[in-house]
Amino acid sequence: MPMKPKLVEAFHAQIQAEFQSAYTYLGMAAWFMENNLPGFAQWMRFQWEEETLHAMKLYDFLHNRGEQVALRAVAAPSKKYTTAVNVFENVRKHEQMITKSINDLYELALKEKDLPSQIVLQWFINEQVEEEAQVMEIIERLKLVGSDGPSIYLMDRQMAERPAPTAGA
Ligand code: FEO
Repeated sequence: MPMKPKLVEAFHAQIQAEFQSAYTYLGMAAWFMENNLPGFAQWMRFQWEEETLHAMKLYDFLHNRGEQVALRAVAAPSKKYTTAVNVFENVRKHEQMITKSINDLYELALKEKDLPSQIVLQWFINEQVEEEAQVMEIIERLKLVGSDGPSIYLMDRQMAERPAPTAGA
């Protein structure tokens, strides 16, 4: 069954938002590399991959529904960060915005009575709960260890242990 044009448009916007997230995190990965925190940089690089997988999940969904995929431009990310905790505060703000856009998209899918869209978006709703919790935990840990000194290097090594994302993640 074809999707309502308004819903397709909203999916296009969400694909853009996921690619924008990926690009933002890739910029953060570069910032961490330049600030001698390679473990955090690796973590962000995996986050870039994960966001790309999110975008592709929506991309494939539209295609499987017989709809066209229209890719939109993504903007250059900011690199004006001050400390590791400042980077993650920005991640938190960004993820809160993504949560809102996923929730709005789900509400639209409900309004349009589009059941397959609702099901694919339920996965994203759960994912956002996990992402926000994960980012909060990192912020709390960063506040404990501080921005310099030996503890941040220990945490940097722990951040490097994050496994590579998979399509189901
Ligand atoms: Fe795809 Fe981090 O939201």
